[in-house]
Amino acid sequence: MDFFCRVTLALMVITFLSATLSQAHPGFNFGWGGHGGISGGYFGLFPEFYQSSCPQVDDIVVSVLEKAIAKEPRMAASLLRLHFHDCFVQGCDASVLLDDSTGIASEKRSVPNRNSIRGFEVIDEIKAKLEEACPHTVSCADILALAARGSTVLSGGPNWVLPLGRRDSRSASLSGANNNIPPPNSTLPNLVTFFKRQGLDEVDLVALSGGHTIGVARCTTFKQRLYNQNGNNQPDASLDKTYYYGLKSVCPRSGGDNNISPLDFASPARFDNTYFKLILWGKGLLTSDEVLWTGNDRRTMQLVKSYAEDEGLFFEQFAKSMVKMGNIRPLTGYNGEVRKNCRRIN
Ligand code: HEM
Ligand SMILES: *[C@@H]1O[C@H](CO)[C@@H](O)[C@H](O)[C@H]1NC(C)=O
Repeated sequence: MDFFCRVTLALMVITFLSATLSQAHPGFNFGWGGHGGISGGYFGLFPEFYQSSCPQVDDIVVSVLEKAIAKEPRMAASLLRLHFHDCFVQGCDASVLLDDSTGIASEKRSVPNRNSIRGFEVIDEIKAKLEEACPHTVSCADILALAARGSTVLSGGPNWVLPLGRRDSRSASLSGANNNIPPPNSTLPNLVTFFKRQGLDEVDLVALSGGHTIGVARCTTFKQRLYNQNGNNQPDASLDKTYYYGLKSVCPRSGGDNNISPLDFASPARFDNTYFKLILWGKGLLTSDEVLWTGNDRRTMQLVKSYAEDEGLFFEQFAKSMVKMGNIRPLTGYNGEVRKNCRRIN
């Protein structure tokens, strides 16, 4: 056996061993995986997690996303938000996807989610395709992370290297969804507290709020600003006047709660930095958007200004903060499971 033969054979053995090990030990990674940040568990997440077990995972996710977003551009926004609402409630474990059943009180019924979060059919379609190509391999929690990244990219936003290997919860937390997802009328100190609880700082808060560069919100989420911001029957003084009159026509004092308005009316389907420019002009839709600028915090003010001036800077930080958010308390190794159907535990 000549030298090259030996090398080839050795490589084949290593490949075989590594494939065998990664099947037997979910998350086995020869020691170079384990990212820092807030990832829990002893295995950690790493980008090559499905390299041998499902190399086509991202292609399958993106092909379903392309169709869904072409049909309805807003779907990108809805999927980005799903990952956020997953991660803020007992970590990025696909708990948000579980339907009601015995022992499961679905998070879909919580105040921030009901009548609001969407995109479940797209996640189901991705899962079905992945179960065909790589049975019982790709977790629903990773599908949410991949769909959030793919949706960002397909809307014109940044791409990033995405650590994978999350496993799915066998529980949901309705109270967690009610208590950990910040409400749209939050003050700036409230927002900072909600993010701190997840291990995220003010830079993450401002960058991730930039997710509101796509998608829409219902009248009920910004009505308080138009008619009674401080309990004195007055509108929020920080609202630009023209914008205020426009919003009133979509969102009357009574009724119309489900009427929708874009979060970034200048480019609602385009992932760009106009969200931050609008905030500088008093045209942020939610209180939680505008207070990043008006909340008397030098740090968030400076960040809003920088991202409004420099789209590249926003994209770079958004990508970093998405990885950080995606690392919130994942289940790894032997914890949790890989669901066969994202809507119920196995
Ligand atoms: C900072 C605290 C946040 C608050 C208070 C907040 C609040 C909201 C509210 C009230 C809506 C509209 C929901 C409805 O009308 O049914 C919304 C939509 C949305 N949020 Fe947030 N959000 C926050 C952070 C985030 C983060 C971190 C992301 C992702 C990185 C995100 C992504 C989105 C997207 C894309 C939409 C549009 C969804 C669609 O059109 O279906 N949000 N958010
Ligand atoms: C936010 O809205 C909720 C529900 O309508 C209300 O109870 C609460 O007082 C509001 N918070 C602020 C800061 O206005």
